[in-house]
Amino acid sequence: MARFIPLLRGGLLYLSKQASLRRWAESSPAARRLTARFIAGLHLNDAIRAAEAVRSWGALASLDYLGENVTRLEEAERTRDAYLAALEEIQRRRLDSTVSVKVTALGLDISEEACRRNCEALVERAHQVGTLIEFDMEDSRYTDRNLAIVRDLHARYGSVRAVIQAYLYRSDADIEDLCARRVPVRLCKGAYNEPPEVAFQSKDEVDANFRRLMRRLLKGGEYPAIATHDERMIEEAMEYATGLGLGPEGYEFQMLYGVRRGLQQRVVAMGKRLRLYIPYGEAWYPYFMRRLAERPANIGFVLRGLFD
Ligand code: FDA
Repeated sequence: MARFIPLLRGGLLYLSKQASLRRWAESSPAARRLTARFIAGLHLNDAIRAAEAVRSWGALASLDYLGENVTRLEEAERTRDAYLAALEEIQRRRLDSTVSVKVTALGLDISEEACRRNCEALVERAHQVGTLIEFDMEDSRYTDRNLAIVRDLHARYGSVRAVIQAYLYRSDADIEDLCARRVPVRLCKGAYNEPPEVAFQSKDEVDANFRRLMRRLLKGGEYPAIATHDERMIEEAMEYATGLGLGPEGYEFQMLYGVRRGLQQRVVAMGKRLRLYIPYGEAWYPYFMRRLAERPANIGFVLRGLFD
């Protein structure tokens, strides 16, 4: 069975890019029902409700308006406006919530200049609200441009968080650069299909690099965010932080909405800061397929939803 898992993963990542399947799935009410465990809902209200629910048991939030690789500037502007509306609600309800954005949803494939304008509008507003814009990292074609935008906006406003993927060889150097600039970083393992020219291919290598980069960030990073559901990494981060004399207010863990809910509650019960990444919106298909690819056993949760 273990031999088939990489094949299944590759297949799911391939399907995540199929436009016709995506159109069919996103317009199907039945498919929508099956995704409810991982996606808060179609509208901002749903995401706010989820953020308030997680706040009730002590977790923080990051709202992600789903979408990526838009092909028209009006779509990018609609995404920007959806995030501005989310920032309004965060302020109005005094939620301890950031928002997580993708540069391709804000127009990077169409015009870098327009994308930068959209990003700046969000960071400026986040600065007024007193929160952060977290710049999700997409596949490696975008890494340089994503980080250039993050560095520039950080220098002018603060109020941003960069994302670094441990599977990329370059991440060591990127983390050094971001630490030197005091840019806060979210460290994750990486969710895209990357070739051996740019990324570690085996889980052991990715885990070893994650561990090294995690220590580097805890030691000298600006309020690092450790984004993983890997219990061993979480325990190691806690031990390492304690050894450094870094209290729970000095860093946070991040996990995805609906993933390993028992572990989420245990982390909060231990007095650690945990932020949940809460996706919402109609364009849920690529996000959802990447979550299935990370853990094909999730197909079981989805199928069970059919009979609930
Ligand atoms: P790993 O894959 O090693 O698994 C550890 C344990 O967690 C296993 O028991 C596994 O079964 C369980 N688990 C992992 N994923 C699961 C899932 N989907 N469902 C159920 N169980 C699961 N990636 C990226 O490329 N760019 C980004 O910007 C982000 N942003 C981001 C934000 C946050 C808050 C998180 C938690 C993750 C991301 N990621 C991401 C995704 C990340 O790169 C990675 O693909 C997943 O988190 C899976 O890796 P883990 O470190 O969680 O554990």
